[in-house]
Formats: sequence, structure tokens, C-alpha cells
Amino acid sequence: MRDKISIIGVGNVGASCAMWLARTNLADLVLVDVPQAETMPVAKALDLLQTGPIMGYNSRLVGTANGSYDGTENSDIIIITGGLPRKPGMSREDLVGVNQQVITDIIDNALPRSPKAIVIVVTNPLDTMTYLAYKHSRLPKNRVIGQAGILDSARFAAFVAQELNVAIENVQTVVMGGHGDEMVPLTRYSTVFGVPLTEWLSADKLSAIVERTRKGGSEIVNLLKTSAYYAPGAALAKIAIAVLTDQKLIVPCSAYLEGEYGLNDICFGVPVKLGSNGIEQIIELKLTDEEQALTQKSVGIIRETMKALR
Ligand code: 2OP
Repeated sequence: MRDKISIIGVGNVGASCAMWLARTNLADLVLVDVPQAETMPVAKALDLLQTGPIMGYNSRLVGTANGSYDGTENSDIIIITGGLPRKPGMSREDLVGVNQQVITDIIDNALPRSPKAIVIVVTNPLDTMTYLAYKHSRLPKNRVIGQAGILDSARFAAFVAQELNVAIENVQTVVMGGHGDEMVPLTRYSTVFGVPLTEWLSADKLSAIVERTRKGGSEIVNLLKTSAYYAPGAALAKIAIAVLTDQKLIVPCSAYLEGEYGLNDICFGVPVKLGSNGIEQIIELKLTDEEQALTQKSVGIIRETMKALR
């Protein structure tokens, strides 16, 4: 039987994710949105299905109308992108009230139809919404994955490659922490051709790139008047591919922590190993005092946001 992925919320992020995933031929895709979106998911699925002969992929895509979840049954993966994106001047945290309802509705509709699914969340504020999805779904913690660190690390890597004029393949970057302006880019663990970034870039240059990475989402929101979507969609697809192919891929994701990094009862961006069971391992990196202080600051912001959960 072919694997199945349901994407709930096919605005820009969900549709981009569908596009990246369709090209892999790894799974059939079901696109769902809210009732107000009417037949939009049907249209986007049809459009992407008709792209198959041009791009040479075989993935089957269907969309549902009027918010229906019919056809999502027995999905292997449920990708939640639903919720409002940011507008200029808004922080990700500003979205907690509205998006909380969206996440619980999606879980209530999608999970009973696909009780074995692994859930991937990208809705902001990311760590808080991942926490909510974990708590509300009552799934084991390995089956709820928040996407943020892949995107943040990719932004970091893209800026480094651009600055040094080297191939993206030569750059390895690690960003931990919450998906917000207080994320924790780990320059010590980030390399070009295996050599730490500190050897390639002056302290000033490096700190400018770190700062641009932290504000990478806002930079696009300000230019576009809404959130980024190509890279967030691709980052979601990367997680789904790692799970479907049991890749054992180590990437930063938001995971529910029980003691790791000295943290409890929070979803936080940490390096995880992804395979067919979802988050199969949380990797604990050794952090310096300074990195730990940055981590604590990021934790503080997430805990503050979590207070807004009803
Ligand atoms: C971003 O950083 C959408 O939060 C996402 O662009």
C-alpha cells in the first residue's frame, strides 16, 4: 500500500509543502482546509496532479471541499500548517489565541481518522503550538514533531554560503532553541568543510549573520507582508521524508522534553534523530555557560507564551 500524508491547511506553506512532497513520489497526498476555503484544496490538488506529467512524478493528490476530512483516513503522517500567519509588526507569540483553537480543531478532526499517524506542526508560535498538539492529542511524545530548527539552520547556512561564496553542501549549521528572535544559533558547532565558522568569519561578520538568522522570518514578513512559505514548506517535507524512509536523520526540531537539557514539560528546539517512529532520539549537546544562558532566555519566552494557552 502507498503511504499517505494529509496536509491540513493548504495556504502558502501547506501548498509549498505539497509541491515539494509530490516530487518525491513517496506518498499520496490529501489536502484539507477550513470550510470557508470551500473547494480551494480540490483545486490545488488538481493543479499539482497535473504538474506530475511535466515534472515527472507519480504522486496522487486529492483535495477535500468545505473542510471535510473524508479521505484522510489512515494517514501515516498528518502535517498541520493551519492557522493565521504573521503580518508586519506581529511577533509569532501574538498568534497564540487564534491558532490555539485551530490546532485543537485539527487534532480533533484528523486524529480519530488516523490514530497511528505521526503529527508534524508548523503553526506559530511554533513551540507552544507543538506543545498544545502533544497535550491535546495525548500521543506518545515521539509522534509529535515541531518544525522550526531545520528552517532556522537553513537560513543560517544560506547566509554563510552567500558570505563566503562557497557551495551550500560545504556548510553545516546548528540552530537550537525556540522558534523566535531568541533562538540559539550554535556557531561553535557550525562548520564549513568541517572547520568551525569562527575560523572563517570575523566575530563581527559572524554576529551579523547570527542576528540576521534570528530575524530571518521577520525579514521576509516585512518584505512580503505575510510569512515565508517556500523554505518552511520544504522543511516540513524534509521531516516527512525522513520519517517515511526511516532515514535516521539528525536535525533540530521542536520536541517534548522530559529532563533533556535540564528542561521539563516544554516543547523546545533540540537536535533529534528522525526515523519511522518519529523522534527516535533526542541528542544532548554539551553547551557552554553562554549557550546555556541563551537557551534559558529562549525557554523563558516560550514559557511566557504558554501562559496564554487556555
Ligand atoms: C518563519 O520563520 C513562518 O515562522 C516561519 O518564516
